[in-house]
Amino acid sequence: MKNLEGKLLALRVIEPWAVEIMRQLYHSTKPWLEVSEPLPSRTIEEQQAWWNDMPHPKIAHLYTPVEEPWNFVAFSIVQRKGNFNTPIFGIHPAYHRRGYGEVILHHYLEVADGPLAGSDKLTNGAIIKLNDRNGWKVIDVDDKGVRKLFHPGVHDDRQQEIYDEICRYHGYHTGDNYQ
Ligand SMILES: CC(C)(COP(=O)(O)OP(=O)(O)OC[C@H]1O[C@@H](n2cnc3c(N)ncnc32)[C@H](O)[C@@H]1OP(=O)(O)O)[C@@H](O)C(=O)NCCC(=O)NCCS
Repeated sequence: MKNLEGKLLALRVIEPWAVEIMRQLYHSTKPWLEVSEPLPSRTIEEQQAWWNDMPHPKIAHLYTPVEEPWNFVAFSIVQRKGNFNTPIFGIHPAYHRRGYGEVILHHYLEVADGPLAGSDKLTNGAIIKLNDRNGWKVIDVDDKGVRKLFHPGVHDDRQQEIYDEICRYHGYHTGDNYQ
């Protein structure tokens, strides 16, 4: 397992048992993960089928605190959607407020290794703060208080081109306001 900033250990999700742990963590964080629409509730079988049938290449990880390597407390998934990536991650509520969110954010940026599209919600103060100070840029805020986001990624030199593509992904015409 990879040590992240001396705080978390990361394990790549490959086998069904790890997908099931991810499902349980997803359920514990689902209310926060919902940005625009309610997320589906999944049984074990549905989760395994969802994982196997995901249309885009994906890389998922589980995380344990370094001092509790038996205890999976968070997950992340990075999906590659053509030229950019979308991340999702969640930490079990009992392990919030320990700085793990920022460590996982750094890790998924490294895993994505390129530009990303994302969304967050103005009511989720912790993720707003973390996203703002780690390079996410706001394209727009919709009438439900959902911020549509762009991240240039850690290594990419096609900024304007990918920015335009991510704007289209979010439902906008162009990326005129790229900064
Ligand atoms: C959002 C989440 C990732 C944050 O991770 P975390 O490690 O618990 O984050 P913290 O509680 O340490 O908060 C991060 C920062 O935001 C601040 N913060 C927390 N709640 C806040 C609020 N309501 N308003 C403003 N700032 C807030 C913290 O003080 C902290 O600031 P600091 O690092 O400068 O001290 C975690 O709570 C989580 O997994 N939530 C459920 C799933 C989710 O929302 N995922 C993200 C969407 S993909």
